[in-house]
Amino acid sequence: MSVLPFDERDGFIWIDGEIKPWREAKIHVLSHGMHYASSVFEGERMYDGKIFESRKHSERFHKSAEILGMKIPISVDELEEIKYDICKKNDLTSAYIRPVAWRGGEQMGVSAKLTKTHVAVAAWAWGTYFDAEKRNTGISLKTSQWRKPAANTAPTQSKAAGLYMIATMSKHAVEDDGFDDALMLDYRGYVAEASAANFFAVKDGVLITPTPDCFLNGLTRQAVIALAKDMGIPFEERHIKPEELNSFQEIFLTGTAAEVTAVGQIDDHKYSVGPITKKLREAYETLVRS
Ligand SMILES: Cc1ncc(COP(=O)(O)O)c(C=O)c1O
Repeated sequence: MSVLPFDERDGFIWIDGEIKPWREAKIHVLSHGMHYASSVFEGERMYDGKIFESRKHSERFHKSAEILGMKIPISVDELEEIKYDICKKNDLTSAYIRPVAWRGGEQMGVSAKLTKTHVAVAAWAWGTYFDAEKRNTGISLKTSQWRKPAANTAPTQSKAAGLYMIATMSKHAVEDDGFDDALMLDYRGYVAEASAANFFAVKDGVLITPTPDCFLNGLTRQAVIALAKDMGIPFEERHIKPEELNSFQEIFLTGTAAEVTAVGQIDDHKYSVGPITKKLREAYETLVRS
């Protein structure tokens, strides 16, 4: 698969108060964020000129940093303006937006109290996260060997870069086996989420999703739950055991990048892209453009 490298593109990136040509938005190798994962980020989508849940993403960005003891040097209001400015500067009305913050190179070593928090905001055109051709059949998941850590083992409610180390390792391992994404269990062995998207199942007309007590309570997840409630779909938030996977009729994932993505297979279990998945996917697609 060939991808145009992300550091060799044209356009503009906002970094530490300046809009710079894309290729010049660089950081030093001795940045604390790179050595010790003191970095948080956001992933957002603009649809027809409007960023879905923009303010909630900006607030989560601040919260993620706060959990790691970092202070974002720009306010939520300033970030709101920057996100729209950078889309405009890059001539984008449909885009993926990536704010990122990291501790700089003022100090090396575990303690980082002297470091400054740097911020950049990039935006680019990004189609569907998973293969659009799998819309009618669903993607395939394989259970990962890695488990999501407990909330007292890692900052699980922060969108912290360090949490994605096991996500990338899991995704690589399952891709090597021909699957599209990893299903991650948590430290107790309950079904948690995919590598970068939340998990939903349908059993006999009831929508079920795991309790987000050790993984991100995604904004898409929250929007989809609200849609399901509006539609009168029975809903349960609870722990899900992997033994239950063969009793579900439908499975789908939610996330800013993944949107609502149907799942056709987990390990040896097969699922259909059923009526509840289709209804919620359609409602979500309407909501983000409304
Ligand atoms: C690990 C993980 N879980 C869940 C999500 C879904 O979150 P959201 O719907 O807020 O994008 C994401 C994507 O951001 C993620 O990376």
